[in-house]
Amino acid sequence: MADTRDDALAGDDAEPAIDLTIRLGLDDDERPRAAELYYAAFEALLRPILGEPARALPLLADALDRELALVARAADGRLVGLCGLHIDDRHLVDLRIAAVLRAFGPLDGARRVLVGLLLAASPAPGELLIDGIAVDPRVRGRGVARRLLDELARIAAARGLRAIRVDVADTNLAARRLYEGCAFVAGETRRSALRRRIFGFAAATTMRRAITATE
Ligand SMILES: CC(C)(COP(=O)(O)OP(=O)(O)OC[C@H]1O[C@@H](n2cnc3c(N)ncnc32)[C@H](O)[C@@H]1OP(=O)(O)O)[C@@H](O)C(=O)NCCC(=O)NCCS
Repeated sequence: MADTRDDALAGDDAEPAIDLTIRLGLDDDERPRAAELYYAAFEALLRPILGEPARALPLLADALDRELALVARAADGRLVGLCGLHIDDRHLVDLRIAAVLRAFGPLDGARRVLVGLLLAASPAPGELLIDGIAVDPRVRGRGVARRLLDELARIAAARGLRAIRVDVADTNLAARRLYEGCAFVAGETRRSALRRRIFGFAAATTMRRAITATE
Protein backbone atom coordinates (compact mmCIF):
# COMPACT_ATOMS: atom_id res chain seq x y z
CA MET A 1 0.00 0.00 0.00
CA ALA A 2 1.27 3.47 -0.86
CA ASP A 3 2.18 6.09 1.71
CA THR A 4 -0.47 8.54 2.76
CA ARG A 5 0.49 12.12 2.04
CA ASP A 6 -1.35 15.26 3.07
CA ASP A 7 -0.49 18.59 1.56
CA ALA A 8 -2.15 21.78 0.52
CA LEU A 9 -2.56 22.31 -3.18
CA ALA A 10 -2.52 25.94 -4.20
CA GLY A 11 -5.13 26.89 -6.81
CA ASP A 12 -4.91 29.99 -9.02
CA ASP A 13 -6.29 33.36 -7.94
CA ALA A 14 -9.88 32.35 -8.66
CA GLU A 15 -9.73 29.06 -6.77
CA PRO A 16 -9.15 28.49 -3.07
CA ALA A 17 -6.48 25.96 -2.11
CA ILE A 18 -7.65 22.37 -1.95
CA ASP A 19 -6.36 19.99 0.70
CA LEU A 20 -5.99 16.50 -0.68
CA THR A 21 -5.10 13.12 0.72
CA ILE A 22 -4.06 10.60 -1.92
CA ARG A 23 -4.13 6.96 -0.92
CA LEU A 24 -4.40 3.54 -2.47
CA GLY A 25 -7.55 1.73 -1.34
CA LEU A 26 -11.26 2.43 -1.34
CA ASP A 27 -13.36 2.01 1.80
CA ASP A 28 -16.38 -0.26 1.43
CA ASP A 29 -18.81 2.55 2.25
CA GLU A 30 -17.27 4.67 -0.53
CA ARG A 31 -18.35 2.26 -3.26
CA PRO A 32 -21.53 4.17 -4.24
CA ARG A 33 -19.70 7.51 -4.41
CA ALA A 34 -16.81 6.01 -6.41
CA ALA A 35 -19.25 4.38 -8.83
CA GLU A 36 -21.12 7.66 -9.28
CA LEU A 37 -17.90 9.59 -9.97
CA TYR A 38 -16.59 6.96 -12.37
CA TYR A 39 -19.87 6.55 -14.26
CA ALA A 40 -20.29 10.32 -14.66
CA ALA A 41 -16.74 10.62 -16.03
CA PHE A 42 -17.07 7.68 -18.46
CA GLU A 43 -20.78 7.65 -19.22
CA ALA A 44 -20.27 7.51 -23.00
CA LEU A 45 -18.29 4.28 -22.56
CA LEU A 46 -20.30 2.72 -19.75
CA ARG A 47 -23.88 3.43 -20.81
CA PRO A 48 -23.78 1.04 -23.82
CA ILE A 49 -22.56 -1.71 -21.48
CA LEU A 50 -24.27 -1.03 -18.14
CA GLY A 51 -27.28 1.02 -19.16
CA GLU A 52 -28.75 4.05 -17.44
CA PRO A 53 -27.50 5.11 -13.97
CA ALA A 54 -30.23 3.35 -11.96
CA ARG A 55 -29.09 -0.01 -13.35
CA ALA A 56 -25.42 0.81 -13.85
CA LEU A 57 -24.42 2.31 -10.51
CA PRO A 58 -25.13 -0.69 -8.26
CA LEU A 59 -23.42 -3.01 -10.77
CA LEU A 60 -20.41 -0.75 -10.97
CA ALA A 61 -20.23 -0.25 -7.19
CA ASP A 62 -20.14 -4.03 -6.70
CA ALA A 63 -17.55 -4.52 -9.44
CA LEU A 64 -14.89 -2.20 -7.99
CA ASP A 65 -11.74 -3.89 -6.72
CA ARG A 66 -11.07 -1.75 -3.64
CA GLU A 67 -7.32 -2.46 -3.62
CA LEU A 68 -6.89 -1.09 -7.13
CA ALA A 69 -8.42 2.33 -6.52
CA LEU A 70 -6.06 5.24 -6.00
CA VAL A 71 -8.29 7.74 -4.25
CA ALA A 72 -8.06 11.52 -3.73
CA ARG A 73 -10.06 12.79 -0.75
CA ALA A 74 -10.73 16.42 0.17
CA ALA A 75 -10.14 17.71 3.73
CA ASP A 76 -13.71 16.78 4.72
CA GLY A 77 -13.06 13.18 3.58
CA ARG A 78 -15.16 13.50 0.43
CA LEU A 79 -13.90 11.41 -2.46
CA VAL A 80 -13.04 13.85 -5.27
CA GLY A 81 -10.80 11.80 -7.54
CA LEU A 82 -10.26 8.20 -8.50
CA CYS A 83 -7.61 6.48 -10.60
CA GLY A 84 -8.01 2.82 -11.49
CA LEU A 85 -5.01 0.48 -11.61
CA HIS A 86 -4.74 -2.53 -13.88
CA ILE A 87 -1.78 -4.75 -13.06
CA ASP A 88 -1.39 -8.26 -14.47
CA ASP A 89 -4.95 -9.62 -14.63
CA ARG A 90 -6.47 -7.47 -11.85
CA HIS A 91 -8.15 -4.15 -12.53
CA LEU A 92 -10.38 -1.58 -10.82
CA VAL A 93 -13.58 -2.36 -12.71
CA ASP A 94 -13.86 -6.11 -12.45
CA LEU A 95 -17.28 -6.67 -13.98
CA ARG A 96 -18.32 -10.31 -13.82
CA ILE A 97 -20.12 -11.79 -16.83
CA ALA A 98 -22.54 -13.54 -14.47
CA ALA A 99 -23.50 -10.22 -12.86
CA VAL A 100 -24.28 -8.64 -16.26
CA LEU A 101 -26.32 -11.67 -17.35
CA ARG A 102 -28.23 -11.57 -14.06
CA ALA A 103 -28.98 -7.86 -14.38
CA PHE A 104 -29.98 -7.81 -18.06
CA GLY A 105 -31.04 -11.38 -18.82
CA PRO A 106 -29.18 -13.85 -21.06
CA LEU A 107 -29.71 -12.22 -24.47
CA ASP A 108 -29.32 -8.53 -23.68
CA GLY A 109 -26.66 -9.41 -21.10
CA ALA A 110 -24.59 -11.38 -23.62
CA ARG A 111 -24.82 -8.49 -26.09
CA ARG A 112 -23.58 -6.09 -23.41
CA VAL A 113 -20.70 -8.37 -22.51
CA LEU A 114 -19.65 -8.44 -26.19
CA VAL A 115 -19.85 -4.64 -26.40
CA GLY A 116 -17.64 -4.46 -23.30
CA LEU A 117 -15.00 -6.58 -25.04
CA LEU A 118 -14.47 -3.72 -27.52
CA LEU A 119 -12.86 -1.79 -24.65
CA ALA A 120 -10.81 -4.67 -23.25
CA ALA A 121 -7.08 -4.05 -22.82
CA SER A 122 -4.25 -5.81 -20.99
CA PRO A 123 -1.01 -4.50 -19.55
CA ALA A 124 2.25 -5.90 -20.92
CA PRO A 125 4.59 -7.55 -18.38
CA GLY A 126 6.16 -4.86 -16.19
CA GLU A 127 3.48 -2.35 -17.12
CA LEU A 128 0.74 -0.67 -15.10
CA LEU A 129 -2.32 0.15 -17.20
CA ILE A 130 -4.55 3.03 -16.08
CA ASP A 131 -8.16 1.87 -15.71
CA GLY A 132 -9.53 5.42 -15.95
CA ILE A 133 -9.03 8.63 -13.99
CA ALA A 134 -12.17 10.44 -12.85
CA VAL A 135 -12.19 13.82 -11.08
CA ASP A 136 -15.27 15.46 -9.56
CA PRO A 137 -16.30 18.23 -12.02
CA ARG A 138 -16.48 20.68 -9.08
CA VAL A 139 -12.72 20.44 -8.49
CA ARG A 140 -11.44 19.95 -12.02
CA GLY A 141 -8.56 22.14 -13.20
CA ARG A 142 -6.98 22.26 -9.74
CA GLY A 143 -4.34 19.59 -10.08
CA VAL A 144 -6.18 16.57 -8.69
CA ALA A 145 -5.44 14.33 -11.69
CA ARG A 146 -1.82 15.46 -11.81
CA ARG A 147 -1.43 14.54 -8.12
CA LEU A 148 -3.01 11.14 -8.74
CA LEU A 149 -0.55 10.49 -11.59
CA ASP A 150 2.44 11.54 -9.44
CA GLU A 151 1.37 9.06 -6.77
CA LEU A 152 0.71 6.40 -9.39
CA ALA A 153 4.31 6.77 -10.63
CA ARG A 154 5.56 6.22 -7.07
CA ILE A 155 3.40 3.12 -6.70
CA ALA A 156 4.65 1.74 -10.03
CA ALA A 157 8.29 2.37 -9.02
CA ALA A 158 7.78 0.77 -5.59
CA ARG A 159 6.44 -2.36 -7.33
CA GLY A 160 9.38 -2.50 -9.72
CA LEU A 161 7.25 -1.74 -12.78
CA ARG A 162 8.88 -0.14 -15.80
CA ALA A 163 6.06 1.84 -17.41
CA ILE A 164 2.57 3.26 -16.99
CA ARG A 165 0.29 3.04 -20.03
CA VAL A 166 -3.05 4.57 -20.87
CA ASP A 167 -5.21 4.48 -24.00
CA VAL A 168 -6.69 7.90 -24.75
CA ALA A 169 -9.67 8.53 -27.04
CA ASP A 170 -8.97 11.01 -29.82
CA THR A 171 -11.96 13.09 -28.69
CA ASN A 172 -10.55 13.58 -25.17
CA LEU A 173 -8.26 16.61 -25.48
CA ALA A 174 -8.21 17.30 -21.72
CA ALA A 175 -6.86 13.80 -21.06
CA ARG A 176 -4.35 14.04 -23.90
CA ARG A 177 -2.96 17.30 -22.44
CA LEU A 178 -2.97 15.91 -18.91
CA TYR A 179 -0.87 12.89 -19.89
CA GLU A 180 1.48 14.90 -22.13
CA GLY A 181 2.09 17.25 -19.21
CA CYS A 182 2.91 14.28 -16.95
CA ALA A 183 5.70 12.83 -19.11
CA PHE A 184 3.57 10.39 -21.12
CA VAL A 185 4.64 9.93 -24.74
CA ALA A 186 2.14 9.11 -27.51
CA GLY A 187 2.63 5.85 -29.40
CA GLU A 188 0.44 3.92 -31.79
CA THR A 189 -3.12 4.97 -32.67
CA ARG A 190 -5.78 2.35 -33.38
CA ARG A 191 -8.99 3.08 -35.28
CA SER A 192 -12.32 1.26 -35.14
CA ALA A 193 -15.53 2.16 -36.95
CA LEU A 194 -17.48 -0.04 -34.55
CA ARG A 195 -16.15 1.80 -31.50
CA ARG A 196 -17.10 5.06 -33.16
CA ARG A 197 -20.67 3.89 -33.66
CA ILE A 198 -21.10 2.56 -30.15
CA PHE A 199 -18.95 4.83 -27.98
CA GLY A 200 -18.52 7.94 -30.13
CA PHE A 201 -14.76 7.86 -30.66
CA ALA A 202 -13.01 6.41 -33.70
CA ALA A 203 -9.40 6.28 -32.55
CA ALA A 204 -7.45 5.67 -29.37
CA THR A 205 -3.79 6.53 -28.86
CA THR A 206 -1.56 4.56 -26.52
CA MET A 207 0.49 6.80 -24.23
CA ARG A 208 3.36 5.56 -22.05
CA ARG A 209 5.40 7.00 -19.23
CA ALA A 210 8.69 5.29 -18.42
CA ILE A 211 9.20 4.70 -14.70
CA THR A 212 12.58 5.01 -13.02
CA ALA A 213 13.50 3.53 -9.64
CA THR A 214 13.81 7.07 -8.21
CA GLU A 215 10.20 8.18 -8.83
C1 LIG B 1 -9.23 14.63 -17.57
C2 LIG B 1 -9.45 14.86 -16.05
C3 LIG B 1 -9.09 13.57 -15.33
C4 LIG B 1 -8.49 15.98 -15.61
O1 LIG B 1 -8.58 16.11 -14.19
P1 LIG B 1 -8.17 17.48 -13.45
O2 LIG B 1 -8.00 17.19 -12.00
O3 LIG B 1 -9.12 18.54 -13.81
O4 LIG B 1 -6.75 17.78 -14.13
P2 LIG B 1 -5.60 18.69 -13.51
O5 LIG B 1 -6.20 19.89 -12.85
O6 LIG B 1 -4.66 17.86 -12.71
O7 LIG B 1 -4.87 19.21 -14.85
C5 LIG B 1 -3.57 18.80 -15.21
C6 LIG B 1 -3.36 19.19 -16.67
O8 LIG B 1 -4.27 18.50 -17.53
C7 LIG B 1 -4.65 19.34 -18.63
N1 LIG B 1 -6.09 19.59 -18.57
C8 LIG B 1 -6.94 19.26 -17.57
N2 LIG B 1 -8.20 19.61 -17.90
C9 LIG B 1 -8.13 20.18 -19.11
C10 LIG B 1 -9.10 20.73 -19.99
N3 LIG B 1 -10.41 20.76 -19.69
N4 LIG B 1 -8.69 21.21 -21.18
C11 LIG B 1 -7.39 21.19 -21.54
N5 LIG B 1 -6.41 20.68 -20.74
C12 LIG B 1 -6.79 20.18 -19.56
C13 LIG B 1 -3.86 20.63 -18.47
O9 LIG B 1 -2.65 20.48 -19.19
C14 LIG B 1 -3.59 20.66 -16.97
O10 LIG B 1 -2.44 21.37 -16.64
P3 LIG B 1 -2.53 22.97 -16.34
O11 LIG B 1 -3.57 23.12 -15.28
O12 LIG B 1 -1.16 23.30 -15.90
O13 LIG B 1 -2.95 23.59 -17.62
C15 LIG B 1 -10.89 15.31 -15.74
O14 LIG B 1 -11.27 16.33 -16.62
C16 LIG B 1 -11.92 14.18 -15.85
O15 LIG B 1 -12.23 13.50 -14.86
N6 LIG B 1 -12.46 13.95 -17.07
C17 LIG B 1 -13.42 12.88 -17.32
C18 LIG B 1 -12.74 11.50 -17.33
C19 LIG B 1 -11.54 11.45 -18.25
O16 LIG B 1 -11.58 11.88 -19.40
N7 LIG B 1 -10.42 10.86 -17.75
C20 LIG B 1 -9.17 10.76 -18.49
C21 LIG B 1 -9.13 9.59 -19.38
S1 LIG B 1 -8.57 8.17 -18.47
